[in-house]
Amino acid sequence: MELLLILVPAVLVVLAVSFLIFHRAVGFGQLNSAAQRERMTARALEGLMRNFAVAENTIYRNNIKLNNMANKLQLSNNQLARLNNMKSKFLSMVVHDVRTPLSVIRGFSDLFARDPSANDKQRTMSKHMGSAVDRLNRLVSDLTDLAMIESGKLKIEPAVFNFCEVVDELMPAIEISAQTKGVVLKYDQIGRDAVIDGDKFRISQVLQNLMANAIKFTPGGGLVELKTRNDKCWIYVYVKDSGIGIHPSETRKIFEKFYQAEYQKDDKLTKLGWGLGLSIALEIISLHKGEIAAESRGLGHGSTFWFKLPIQPMAEQ
Ligand SMILES: Nc1ncnc2c1ncn2[C@@H]1O[C@H](COP(=O)(O)OP(=O)(O)O)[C@@H](O)[C@H]1O
Ligand SMILES: [Mg+2]
Repeated sequence: MELLLILVPAVLVVLAVSFLIFHRAVGFGQLNSAAQRERMTARALEGLMRNFAVAENTIYRNNIKLNNMANKLQLSNNQLARLNNMKSKFLSMVVHDVRTPLSVIRGFSDLFARDPSANDKQRTMSKHMGSAVDRLNRLVSDLTDLAMIESGKLKIEPAVFNFCEVVDELMPAIEISAQTKGVVLKYDQIGRDAVIDGDKFRISQVLQNLMANAIKFTPGGGLVELKTRNDKCWIYVYVKDSGIGIHPSETRKIFEKFYQAEYQKDDKLTKLGWGLGLSIALEIISLHKGEIAAESRGLGHGSTFWFKLPIQPMAEQ
């Protein structure tokens, strides 16, 4: 009994002390981890701030680089615009200064060809001179058109006219070049009721280009056909030839300026031109809100060039 009286309070004291120690220990632990968490959060925040500062610095430096690049680009852009302007001025100056002497040479070669005192050889020579001058003249007017296109100055002067007038006016000269080349020319399917509100001179230039190409790229004995058809809104004009044809990969590219088909092996024909006619035709047709394209079944299988133009509704004709 006495032993119990001593043991029970001793056990109670030990329990109480253990409880106190345990409680203290837990409290201290809790205190310790909160402080640790605070420290960790502070450290993470510090790290984040450091990263932010680095990112900010990088953005700032990149921004400076971008600004420098933009300034350089602006400079090159200004320079390009200045050079382009100079090129256009130079081109129109050259064109003007070449035209005048060319017309003098053309005049004298004509005079010489008709001179009764000239012999056959001299007449043939002056004819060659005349056609060389014609080629140069064509180049000069193509270059003039190109300069106008590039400076946005190629304007159409619209007026109402019947498309068949263009064909009637153009065909006599085309007939002569077809005959000279030995190419058969067919144009018996021309609609006579398509009225256009457009620039007759420019549209005639397009048709003349397509016909000249068709004759140029068709060997003697071949056929060149001009046809039109129209519905209520459009006139469709087709220039079909049985000539050297176009590789499928080039039917679009040939409308780019200075582009001449690379798959065609005939050097003699390409030397006869500069690759400008179709790019000018495309511009003229686009200014009339029309469409132009080339189709071919491939090299050696002929080509068809077509364009369409809006026509006047019947009531307005
Ligand atoms: N009817 C055609 N048949 C075959 N190729 C053609 C025809 N028309 C045009 N091309 C091709 O398109 C190119 C560009 O034509 P174009 O712009 O009129 O220039 P150019 O006649 O001065 O060469 C020609 O060089 C030729 O390769
Ligand atoms: Mg041409």
